[in-house]
Amino acid sequence: MNTNHHQTPGHSRFRRVRRVLPLALTGLAATLLTGCQQVSQSLSIGDMSSGYNREIFWMSVWAIALSIIIFIGVSYALFYTVNKFREDKHDAPPAQFHGNNRLEVILVVVPVIIVVFLSVLTVRSMARLNPNINADTVNVDVLGRQFWWNFSYPEAAAAAGGVVTNGNEIIMPTRQKVALTITSGDVIHGFWAPNIGGQRAAMPAVKKTWQVDTDRAGAYQGNCSQLCGASHANMRYKVVALDQDRYNTFITAASAYRAPEPAPGSAEARGYTLFMQGKTETGALACAACHRVQGTPAAGAAGPDLSFFGTRRTLGAGMWEAMTAEHWEAADAKARLHEWIKHSPLVKPGSLMPTYDGSEYRVNGKVQKGGVLTDAEIDDVAAYLRTLQLPEEADYWKGTPVQGAPQGGTQ
Ligand code: CUA
Repeated sequence: MNTNHHQTPGHSRFRRVRRVLPLALTGLAATLLTGCQQVSQSLSIGDMSSGYNREIFWMSVWAIALSIIIFIGVSYALFYTVNKFREDKHDAPPAQFHGNNRLEVILVVVPVIIVVFLSVLTVRSMARLNPNINADTVNVDVLGRQFWWNFSYPEAAAAAGGVVTNGNEIIMPTRQKVALTITSGDVIHGFWAPNIGGQRAAMPAVKKTWQVDTDRAGAYQGNCSQLCGASHANMRYKVVALDQDRYNTFITAASAYRAPEPAPGSAEARGYTLFMQGKTETGALACAACHRVQGTPAAGAAGPDLSFFGTRRTLGAGMWEAMTAEHWEAADAKARLHEWIKHSPLVKPGSLMPTYDGSEYRVNGKVQKGGVLTDAEIDDVAAYLRTLQLPEEADYWKGTPVQGAPQGGTQ
């Protein structure tokens, strides 16, 4: 932008504003829509593939149309009155309306009709959007924590124990109501994935059920919508909506899933041991203390579920994505994962994960000193994480269109 301010005549300054304003708005929109990382998806409350959004849209159309009619009516009455009854010094005092019963009744009845009409519309929409849980409803428990999400499926018992749970990526069927029971493990968060409808607070010790839906398969962006701490903006998630067959395939495979056992002596096997036990000599804490991996002894609940980490394509609660054809095998994705394990509080402010390079980090205001893993050991842990994959047919990303992304799909 031109910063040459002196000797600028007024009208040319105005012209520059006119030139710069659209650019600034475009830039703002791009920032709002894409975030600053590789994330490039739009959030749209105007996504009409969701019945929730359609209901809100038509409710708004009624309310706005009615407001416009009222505005025009009141403006007309005002100008008419001002014009007709303006002061005329030669005339008698203006007529008085006190005691005009007909006028007073009209002035009471008309607003009452308008308010009742809007109330009926609002209550009707509220009733329609209220969770209506029946045998066909898919239930998902949503847990928000600083700064990540867990999505678990209470009706999908895992053969290995517990229920199917996924961190930071929620999978839902299309053309079916999905009831989310939302809560928080610490402060208030906001569940907000506008393409599938609305926004709800995630509050500690309170469970709120609420219903979302979409007619269109695809991956949508979700964000935390309640300021909740240093990484509020890094508390994202993906909503992956699958058509019924694919959704059932996912649930069946995820229920039967047991994390693959690494071949003895492999890098993955070394990573598995570090993941489960940490490294006592250097104070490196075990990942398993905070993370669950279905079908292994790892059952921690303080961090996101990692059972399907290798199938997931987001890292750090949506801070980074691995959407290229190589996914986690891509050089930059590998580098991100390495950095993440090494010192996540450094790359994500407020992350409660320990460091593994000996640096200090904070938990509940207390300074802690991280343990140490060598770069090779960190790569072993990463190699183990990459093996945590659902069977090919249950890979919910495969072929799923990413809504709003420039490439329009995934591989
Ligand atoms: Cu959680 Cu903002």
